[in-house]
Amino acid sequence: MRLLGIETSCDDTAAAVVDDSGFVWSSVISSQQSFHTKYQGVVPEIASRRHTATVIATIDEALLLAHMRIHDIDGIAVTYGPGLVGSLLVGVETAKALSYASGRRLIPVNHLEGHIMASFLRDADMTENQLTGDDLPLLALVVSGGHTELVYVDQWLHYRVLGATRDDAAGETLDKFAKYLGLGYPGGPILQRIGATGDSAYHTFPRVTFSKTGYEFSFSGLKTAGINYVKSLEKDELEHHLADVVASFEAAVVNELVGKSLRAAQELHPKALAVVGGVAANERLRKGFRKATNVRVYFPPMKYCTDNAAMIAYAGIRRSMVGICAPLDLDVRSSLTVEESSLDA
Ligand code: KG4
Ligand code: ZN
Repeated sequence: MRLLGIETSCDDTAAAVVDDSGFVWSSVISSQQSFHTKYQGVVPEIASRRHTATVIATIDEALLLAHMRIHDIDGIAVTYGPGLVGSLLVGVETAKALSYASGRRLIPVNHLEGHIMASFLRDADMTENQLTGDDLPLLALVVSGGHTELVYVDQWLHYRVLGATRDDAAGETLDKFAKYLGLGYPGGPILQRIGATGDSAYHTFPRVTFSKTGYEFSFSGLKTAGINYVKSLEKDELEHHLADVVASFEAAVVNELVGKSLRAAQELHPKALAVVGGVAANERLRKGFRKATNVRVYFPPMKYCTDNAAMIAYAGIRRSMVGICAPLDLDVRSSLTVEESSLDA
């Protein structure tokens, strides 16, 4: 089985062709970053307009690179939530039109489920082995600009959220801290670059702990502490120690993510721990997980951590295998949870 995946939930227009072994035949991403940079964040109106302008060309390119035509694929998987309504609509309406015109089935995919499924993708450039069905039950840390949650995947398509953020997502926290420092957008990769040479022990930021047993996260207190700390510094100190301040802040976010994930792994004994979503591209986070000794920790390659359509296509394949398919009046769901897409929901 081969599916075309379409992803337009936020600010990247993406299309990909993936087969049922998880092999990526093509994965095309049209970035809108340059259109949003001057606003230091995603402007929903601009995002949906850009998706409209590029979605057809992105799909054409994905098919071209896979050396396929629409009739060579078995179905069309599309992200229908969660995300920005105007952005999701472009992908879903395009997928519906393609499905109607080609007679290929339409498969609705949850964006968060897509991020988890990125762990099962493989391509010709990969050196590390991806996860397989033998790695279930799986613990997944989904950590992106909009989400931070620990999800237990007992078997294919069964999702249980162990704990999510009560306020800001980890990526959002990094983005807002970078924005306050006037460093640009998106903040995560910029902080990584600046903090790479810094001393992460320069300043200790407070940790928020609700209870010693739960898996909920909270980052808004840390964000405020970061901003207040920067405000308290003399201009000179900030200039001389920017790398140290950034490294310390990044480390506070990373410690929180690593600590809770490894505790969950210790308590639940999954076969593997997958760290997925845009923030999983972070070097300090990857390093933080190296201390894990009791569970295999897997990070998808960077290109499948940030938003892409290959992960959507593979999630579509798993859903299609159990007969899930959407009617042509499929609607978008801007605030869909991953549990709502669980087979036992
Ligand atoms: O998964 P993603 O591409 O989009 C969402 O679904 O949100 O994640 C985007 C987030 C942004 O907050 C961005 O700053 C963060 O991922 N990010 C990073 C890195 N690359 C992207 N954060 C830290 N280090 C990175 N290298
Ligand atoms: Zn995402």
